[in-house]
Amino acid sequence: MTTSTLVAPLAQGMPVAPARATSSAATGFSVSCRDVTVRFFTDRRSVTALQDLSLDIRDGEFLTLLGPSGCGKSTFLRVVADLIAPTAGSLQVLGVTPEAARIRRDIGFVFQDAALLPWRTALQNVELPLEVAKGRADTTRAARATPRELLELVGLKGSENAYPHELSGGMRQRVAIARALVSDPRVLLMDEPFGALDEITRDRLNEELLRVWRELGMTVLFVTHSIYEAAFLGQRVLMLAANPGRVQEIVPTDLPADRGLDIRETPRFVQLTAHLRQVLETC
Ligand SMILES: Nc1ncnc2c1ncn2[C@@H]1O[C@H](COP(=O)(O)OP(=O)(O)O)[C@@H](O)[C@H]1O
Ligand SMILES: [Mg+2]
Repeated sequence: MTTSTLVAPLAQGMPVAPARATSSAATGFSVSCRDVTVRFFTDRRSVTALQDLSLDIRDGEFLTLLGPSGCGKSTFLRVVADLIAPTAGSLQVLGVTPEAARIRRDIGFVFQDAALLPWRTALQNVELPLEVAKGRADTTRAARATPRELLELVGLKGSENAYPHELSGGMRQRVAIARALVSDPRVLLMDEPFGALDEITRDRLNEELLRVWRELGMTVLFVTHSIYEAAFLGQRVLMLAANPGRVQEIVPTDLPADRGLDIRETPRFVQLTAHLRQVLETC
């Protein structure tokens, strides 16, 4: 695999249809939660992973989640994805319950580990959700891009037939992103997707993820430990405090939409990251 494949910029002018009209147009929010509390009960004790979380996330917004380990970031994403139900409070995704949104395949998920099937090529891994969904009633929505086009979109043109072990960690995450996009989700959940990658690869993927988001227009909820990643990617940074997990502060980043990594040199970015660091120390 050549390095040039790894750093390939996103194809311009991809045959991708414009963003759909949204059923949540009435509210303008893709995720709305009110007083969401999640408590886990184990043998000896209960843990309040999230306490009274109330938040509206705009349709098409890029929101980053930042906070100390154990503050409930993954729990929040899992509630949105309908992997766990809140103990109390209510949550709507695209104007319906998380379950209804999941069944409509409106939600895509990318984890820290790409979790690709080793015996399938990159293209076959991206095709997998379509095969799984085949024949189900919820597959009627026309996809905006084919698996091949999505691999091109994430900079993997030419690597369609490579197997996971032939790909670098960054390339495997690109495949995982293409796979999450194959059902054309309106909400993309990303839980520290670049956390295990080296800094240079992470920087490139950050820039390219922004381009994919600008092109497709979905809502992104992106969990990270990195102040710089949170500030660079997010339109707002949701800062959570731990024990119990709760909103500490929501920080608008106010950076230009078509930013590149050089924005990190600007006074605004330096000021922003200093503020995030200061808040994080109190979480
Ligand atoms: N399935 C579970 N059972 C019991 N406790 C859990 C479970 N999942 C998460 N927790 C606890 O909930 C809290 C929040 O966890 P998590 O959402 O994974 O935090 P983060 O992703 O911010 O590191 C932690 O105290 C964690 O130990
Ligand atoms: Mg986590």
